[in-house]
Amino acid sequence: MDHSSNITEVRRQVDEARADGLNIGFVPTMGAFHRGHTSLIEASARICGWTVVSIFVNPTQFAPNEDLDSYPRTLKSDLAKAQASGADLVFAPSAEQMYPSGFKTYVEVEELGHVLCGKSRPGHFRGVVTVVAKLLNIIRPDALFLGRKDAQQAIIIARMVEDLDFTVEVKMRPTVREADGLAMSSRNQYLSVAHRTIAPRLFEALSVSGRLFDHGERNAAKLVDAAASILRAESEIDVEYIEIRKARGLEPAESINESSLLFVAAKLGETRLIDNIILDPEMGSFEA
Ligand code: PAF
Repeated sequence: MDHSSNITEVRRQVDEARADGLNIGFVPTMGAFHRGHTSLIEASARICGWTVVSIFVNPTQFAPNEDLDSYPRTLKSDLAKAQASGADLVFAPSAEQMYPSGFKTYVEVEELGHVLCGKSRPGHFRGVVTVVAKLLNIIRPDALFLGRKDAQQAIIIARMVEDLDFTVEVKMRPTVREADGLAMSSRNQYLSVAHRTIAPRLFEALSVSGRLFDHGERNAAKLVDAAASILRAESEIDVEYIEIRKARGLEPAESINESSLLFVAAKLGETRLIDNIILDPEMGSFEA
């Protein structure tokens, strides 16, 4: 496995792989790999002939008060994990390469980027979509692998891909969880020991609603209430939102008659956690 921080060099290597008849899989990341990331790399390596992984802590998706400076940076161990998971090339550019002086162009997905996490993190999805559009232009992959833990992000990126006629196929992969249900996230390492024991309550709350859904409940307000009452009982959990929205377009759902997601975001101390489950009436049982 090779790694490079140089855009021209990365394009050259991708062109070579494509000329060899290989289809290109791409996994964009901010590093600090856990099993969620490596499962995406493994999926790409299984499905595609050649896999590129990007590692870039993207400054434009962090607000000034957020954790850009303290975000974990673990390039050496990430490279080893990428290689072990089947990556062929890691692209790890600097901020100057991605945003040279004079940079002025941003991509924004309207509406979808302003609800849920977009409400409390204004500008966040504009930064995400801009960097992903750049990365797609640099790598020009056939398939893009995204984790469902960040379902809103994946839905917004899929919208941008469709709206701007990128030819890449977006593949949303299941959330990888710790044994106690906590969705894996690079930010879990910020949790204190006490908060780490409380953090699985998020998924427990979603699962309670999920089981009601499995038993036939389709009223969104009742499903939200069931999860919210569990979270309210835990004084350390500060809920930012808990909402059911349609998978397509992220409009609020009143009753679940098409594929929808129950989304939650909450703070434990300074650590912000997000999670979701899929409620799809065609499947009949919730998907974690
Ligand atoms: O999910 C992430 O790690 C980031 O938001 C992404 C998609 C790599 C863009 O910086």
